[in-house]
Amino acid sequence: MHPVLRPAVGEDLDALCDLEHRALTIDRFSRRQLYHVLNRANAVTLVAEGGECRLSGYGTFLLRRNSRQARLYSLGVDPGARGRGIGASLLKALVNAAVRRGCERMVLEVRIDNSAALTLYRQAGFMPEAWLTEYYADGCSAWRMSRALTTSLPDLDHQA
Ligand SMILES: CC(C)(COP(=O)(O)OP(=O)(O)OC[C@H]1O[C@@H](n2cnc3c(N)ncnc32)[C@H](O)[C@@H]1OP(=O)(O)O)[C@@H](O)C(=O)NCCC(=O)NCCS
Repeated sequence: MHPVLRPAVGEDLDALCDLEHRALTIDRFSRRQLYHVLNRANAVTLVAEGGECRLSGYGTFLLRRNSRQARLYSLGVDPGARGRGIGASLLKALVNAAVRRGCERMVLEVRIDNSAALTLYRQAGFMPEAWLTEYYADGCSAWRMSRALTTSLPDLDHQA
């Protein structure tokens, strides 16, 4: 069954902060950063509703002026809700939302030790394009991955 996805709204801030703390152990966004994610005109944030807490997942991409490239900025699923397709559904919905906004490419950075995310991104058609040495504050390196957005991904009934 598909999770219920919808665009985030300002009132989601508290639930988003809770989710960020549950979903990420490192490289977390602060409340201030999440506030900006929710209120920036160039950020698109989708949330997955349900589960034991109000939100079970979220993802955000950023748009740049005069650019057809979207940057996946964050993706997280509640540890208690993982392995049920929520991350993949959010990623598909974000890709499709970027396609609808005229984006031709999506890029992201991912820790090289994050095998779950690396597998998810590869499965969704992202390919490694650059190795970023010691990209994160703890010294972990990253892969920059990208995907052409020529077509929408199927299996979505959500319109962001
Ligand atoms: C990465 C994350 C978003 C995946 O969310 P999820 O809802 O559990 O993922 P899904 O159930 O949709 O899984 C989709 C695919 O991802 C891959 N995947 C998910 N969890 C995995 C794991 N623990 N190990 C290996 N591959 C995994 C699989 O390919 C899976 O497809 P499959 O079910 O057909 O095998 C989640 O683990 C998470 O929130 N991690 C912490 C935050 C994070 O690392 N975000 C990414 C930052 S770049």
